[in-house]
Amino acid sequence: MTLLDLDRRTGWPEDMRVLLDLYPREVWPAHANLGRTARFWLKRHDMFRELGGALQSATAQFREGLITPSEFQGWFAPRLQFFLSGLNDHHHIEDHAYFPLFRAAEPRLVRGFEVLENDHDVIHQSIEKVMDAANDLLRNLQKDSLQRSADHYADVSDCLLSGLIRHLDDEEDLIIPLILDRSEEKLGM
Ligand SMILES: [Fe+2]
Ligand SMILES: [Fe+2]
Repeated sequence: MTLLDLDRRTGWPEDMRVLLDLYPREVWPAHANLGRTARFWLKRHDMFRELGGALQSATAQFREGLITPSEFQGWFAPRLQFFLSGLNDHHHIEDHAYFPLFRAAEPRLVRGFEVLENDHDVIHQSIEKVMDAANDLLRNLQKDSLQRSADHYADVSDCLLSGLIRHLDDEEDLIIPLILDRSEEKLGM
């Protein structure tokens, strides 16, 4: 366990901010080296943030009795499936296609990429818990045990989402400054 674990950190320490200090978030959108791949990748992250938030608010509305079990099931099940499988695919591409390029390009940030890879493992364990809890919730929609299943689902999905938001922010803060400093072409993206 370290201070950089996903559930403990609140951003990067000084030694992982060497490029972020040169390229703070305000300069990203207009920077000439923010290429097509980086823009697409940032949009994927925003999609995960938005869909994660929408799933969370639908769950809250359902638990407050504002939508019926069948309305909830019809909206929720396909979107949760899309969200979780999209996350798995996204992490797979990062671990295997992109992180090796970034590590090789900037040895000073290698520790940061180890942290992000470890985040992916932690998030994957959270995804498994969310899938189990969602299956349990959907099975129990018409049963007396609904309340307990809904409480448990809300707990594990809140944990997934808070970890994911931390991960997305820190991943962008490590990677986008590196892309702006070197360019997508030079990094071999
Ligand atoms: Fe990631
Ligand atoms: Fe990502």
